[in-house]
Amino acid sequence: MVYIIAIDGPSGVGKSTIAKKLSKILSINYIDTGAMYRAIAYKLIVNKISFDDHEKIKEILNKTKLDFKANHLYVDDKKVSKEIRTDEVSKVASLISSYPYVREKLVEIQREIGKYDSCILDGRDVGTVIFPKADIKFYLTASVKTRAKRRYLQSGKKNGLTLSEVTKSIEKRDFDDMNRKCSPLKKAKDAIEIDSTDKSLKETVLKFLSYIRGN
Ligand code: DC
Repeated sequence: MVYIIAIDGPSGVGKSTIAKKLSKILSINYIDTGAMYRAIAYKLIVNKISFDDHEKIKEILNKTKLDFKANHLYVDDKKVSKEIRTDEVSKVASLISSYPYVREKLVEIQREIGKYDSCILDGRDVGTVIFPKADIKFYLTASVKTRAKRRYLQSGKKNGLTLSEVTKSIEKRDFDDMNRKCSPLKKAKDAIEIDSTDKSLKETVLKFLSYIRGN
């Protein structure tokens, strides 16, 4: 039986780390929906396409091949990783994720992927828009302070950013994600909320598993 686990939540809350771990434990596919927005943003940057040239963006969207193999995103048959994780790509991904035609196209691909195999997906609209009938939905949160500190230690410091800059960027991303007109980030009515502010990674994974396994 094919089943879908949805994890939504704000930036830097650890959705992808948790989703990857759960996908291994449960032996199901992991789909990082944010990576798809990042991949399109990356292609716009590389091809020097203006972010308000909607005809060109549509063209890129329609001719880009996006697949997941062994839980990794392939763009036009090329595995992408670090190049879609830069600050520039994050900003452009956030902007284009507010364009309805971009969302429409990516949601179509995401739904197709989830048709055939059990998956765990993470993003902003998995439980509200992509799979409103997902078998189990989670909304993962943590305080801005905690998320900023984690992100600062993971990558911000290495990239020469201060804790206060990382905090501001998380606050801005929260505001943009929660206030855009099309599919804003919000908790689905039937989602289970898990707050990881005071939990270790292991404790958070165990909490998810206890809900998934129903104990
Ligand atoms: O999760 P992430 O930081 O990799 O996501 C990149 C951007 O894409 C982020 O600004 C939010 C947006 N996004 C979205 O709007 N809907 C999704 N399902 C996933 C990500």
